[in-house]
Amino acid sequence: MSYASSLLSRRNRDGVLAAPAQWNAVLETILNHRSVRGFLPDQLPDGTLELLIAAAQSASSSSNLQFWSVVAVQESERKSRLAELAGQQQFIRDAPLLLVWLADLSRLDRIAAERQAQVEGTHYVEEFIVGVVDAALAAQSALIAAESLSKRVVPDKAQTDSSNAWTKDAADTALYDGGSRDGWEIRPQSKNRKCQCGGNSCDSDQCSL
Ligand SMILES: Cc1cc2nc3c(=O)[nH]c(=O)nc-3n(C[C@H](O)[C@H](O)[C@H](O)COP(=O)(O)O)c2cc1C
Repeated sequence: MSYASSLLSRRNRDGVLAAPAQWNAVLETILNHRSVRGFLPDQLPDGTLELLIAAAQSASSSSNLQFWSVVAVQESERKSRLAELAGQQQFIRDAPLLLVWLADLSRLDRIAAERQAQVEGTHYVEEFIVGVVDAALAAQSALIAAESLSKRVVPDKAQTDSSNAWTKDAADTALYDGGSRDGWEIRPQSKNRKCQCGGNSCDSDQCSL
């Protein structure tokens, strides 16, 4: 049995399947996914974080609004506080890198304010859903990228029960040391796509909001 058919058979639990007509390393990475919660103490090689974020930025995004941000956490003390907030999940402390994905509805407001533009509708339920979906797609792309580099990954959710809630204050304290954002938040860059600005073609970061 080929390696490809053994992966497919394992995924479908359908017994032995014929070797697929098409196969590649991307499919191999995706079908090999599994959550891993034990980590070596090694630091990530230089440039890994940037690669993961580039992969995240390449995900589809509703209307290309990219309603997400991500915070990269590597400091032990900060990871420890976040592990506590997530219900004492030890692997958050052990992981060399924790990426906290945010459905960031304020991002578009900030961009609009910087450009002195009016923006409407960023606080509707629909945008909240779009933000969550955008963040999930970005996170999944980063996860696949990490796994393709043989990095072990586990997705993790913020706890939502009342005893362990990631309240805004608690998350701000853990992530931003009491709300002061010290510049290590990574925001998605607009993709270098052509779009229409007042009838003319222009880069997407020049589109009117
Ligand atoms: C949104 C989301 C939240 C998750 N939260 C946790 C979590 O809090 N703790 C944990 O150990 N695993 C968490 N997981 C991992 C799932 O338990 C895991 O993906 C699932 O059991 C399937 O296993 P697999 O990823 O190895 O295929 C989460 C996964 C997702 C997608």
